[in-house]
Amino acid sequence: MGLIVEDISKTFSLPAGRRLTVLEDVSFTAEDGDFVVVLGESGCGKSTLLNLIAGLLPLSSGEIRVDDKKITGPHPSRSILFQQPSLLPWLTTKENIIFGCKLRGESENLEERCAQLTEIMGLSGFEKHYPHELSQGMAQRVCLARALMGHPDILLLDEPFSALDTINRTRLQEELIEFWAIENFTVIFVTHDIDEAILLGNKIVVLGGHPCHIIEIFEVTLNYPRDVGEPSFFDLREEILARLKSASM
Ligand SMILES: Nc1ncnc2c1ncn2[C@@H]1O[C@H](COP(=O)(O)OP(=O)(O)O)[C@@H](O)[C@H]1O
Ligand SMILES: [Mg+2]
Repeated sequence: MGLIVEDISKTFSLPAGRRLTVLEDVSFTAEDGDFVVVLGESGCGKSTLLNLIAGLLPLSSGEIRVDDKKITGPHPSRSILFQQPSLLPWLTTKENIIFGCKLRGESENLEERCAQLTEIMGLSGFEKHYPHELSQGMAQRVCLARALMGHPDILLLDEPFSALDTINRTRLQEELIEFWAIENFTVIFVTHDIDEAILLGNKIVVLGGHPCHIIEIFEVTLNYPRDVGEPSFFDLREEILARLKSASM
């Protein structure tokens, strides 16, 4: 069943009675275990879409369902990771990772899960560090570990690696794919970067226009790990670029 986004629209009310329709008639689905990348230029409404799926914003029209239940607000089964690391400065790496689970009173396997994620995210040895003692890449790893701590069914990622340098971004992309392959949660990953979209997604939802709507949905069948140098990678990039260009004319 998975996630169903059905005919959703979002209009913001602005000062002086003005209204801004950001998303219009957006529909797509994510089967359980899908890695869906939402690709679109800056300002097109990607964060708005992700916040709607997270249940952090109300819809103007349409419906979002998870396993046939309508989303009405945030839920720990859907965790979200933002572009900038958002850690609590007075807590250590380990305390930040387990914070949400502790808050919800989830105590089962807390230590083991935290140790597993610390290891996988390359944070071993940094458990007692505070956020100001971490690089931005490290801090984002802690946020990713925290988001995964409670075994979410759906992981929502809002351009999570765009502020990182190429080496850190590539490493984190690889680690995310490896971990997703092991745990098979559903991912909705937002980006404006075509290469990142093709590296990661098994489905790419291309957004564009004002108000923003779906231009096309691509199924990506290339094997993981993917290589930007592969001819089929290049072909898909050209195809997506061509669709984006023709949609903006
Ligand atoms: N709370 C809000 N109130 C009014 N306008 C908003 C609000 N949030 C976003 N917008 C507008 O919606 C548009 C899309 O924003 P956003 O979803 O952040 O785009 P993206 O993440 O693709 O860069 C922008 O024009 C932005 O100014
Ligand atoms: Mg955004």
